[in-house]
Amino acid sequence: MRGDASAGLSMSGISHAFGEHRVLNDVSVDVAPGELVCLLGPSGCGKTTLLRIAAGLEPLQQGRIAVDGIPIAEGGKPGALPPERRGIGLMFQDYALFPHRNVRDNIAFGIDKSKGGRRSAWIDDALAAMGLTRFADAYPHTLSGGQQQRVALIRALAPGPNILLLDEPFSGLDVTRRAQIRTDTLEFVKKTGVATLMVTHDPEEAMFMADRIFVMNEGVVVQDGSPVDLYFQPASAFVAELFGPVSRFTGTVRHDEIETPLGTFSAGELAGGSAAEVMIRPEAFRLAVEGSRPQPMPGDPENLVIAPAPLEVVTARPLGRSSFVQLKLNDGRTIDTRVPGTFLPGAGSKVLVGVNPRLAHVFTVPSAR
Ligand SMILES: Nc1ncnc2c1ncn2[C@@H]1O[C@H](COP(=O)(O)OP(=O)(O)OP(=O)(O)O)[C@@H](O)[C@H]1O
Ligand SMILES: [Mg+2]
Repeated sequence: MRGDASAGLSMSGISHAFGEHRVLNDVSVDVAPGELVCLLGPSGCGKTTLLRIAAGLEPLQQGRIAVDGIPIAEGGKPGALPPERRGIGLMFQDYALFPHRNVRDNIAFGIDKSKGGRRSAWIDDALAAMGLTRFADAYPHTLSGGQQQRVALIRALAPGPNILLLDEPFSGLDVTRRAQIRTDTLEFVKKTGVATLMVTHDPEEAMFMADRIFVMNEGVVVQDGSPVDLYFQPASAFVAELFGPVSRFTGTVRHDEIETPLGTFSAGELAGGSAAEVMIRPEAFRLAVEGSRPQPMPGDPENLVIAPAPLEVVTARPLGRSSFVQLKLNDGRTIDTRVPGTFLPGAGSKVLVGVNPRLAHVFTVPSAR
């Protein structure tokens, strides 16, 4: 996973409480140079607290933090490196640019004066890379949100930190601006080779940007891996649901299988007689008009799971590259499917339904729920 286990940022066994309220429980996260790692999780799960601890803005209670293999803080022990000596660049959700300094001076602030000459060339390059050259002398209030975000990012990187911490850096931007700025940011961060730890609660953003994602819930890391791992091999129902909508079916495991209105799925290792649920992503469905059979798409296993009976179409809508088709089950529930291309069966007509079992995830249902 990582070449040199000591380079970059390493946080291990971090636990933290505010008074009696424990908000982090034995969290370990590492980020290699040039790597972008996302912390993803619901509001209040402890993401910002973890970043603040890394930056030294919150004292470390338990655990260890090292940068490039050198310990900079150890829980409960004195001698933690102060924030300004950690070589960590920070950017929080409110960009907090200095209103009375222009763009260039905002960026230059905090750069070691002795490096002035060299860094000035760096600032020019950075402004050019982010499309901000003509705004060098502008004041923050005359910039758009997206431009301010870019300035804040350059400012965080200007002192040449080894570690960059970003807390929801794009949350203040509208959808169209976000996409472009994500791409620019990613390129810029990769070019500098900084180890970046970024907080988001948007799974698509995490998948787009991250080399690895750490999913957190209630103060613990519940799963970590590449975006593809997490999307296709979620370890729990929580992770499966976090990464996008799913249709859920519950049942009992019999003969290593679980039966649903959409057919019979393999229950994997789950014990016979136990309660299980199947979670199916909208893009797992393969539909066919009555009289034909649902066909596997390229990359699907040959044997789709086939629903025992045709299902009624509630509505079908074109989405451009794909179609949204809502189907009705016998018990009145509806399921949402998304099929490639234009497939628009009439409302009230029947379709045959196949499911790519690789996009159907089976989990045991905890008894206390
Ligand atoms: N200074 C503080 N004093 C007391 N409790 C705090 C403090 N800072 C955070 N908390 C609590 O710690 C928990 C984690 O907060 P944190 O800000 O780390 O969450 P988060 O994952 O960043 O959430 P969000 O996505 O909403 O930003 C929350 O329950 C919060 O109320
Ligand atoms: Mg937060």
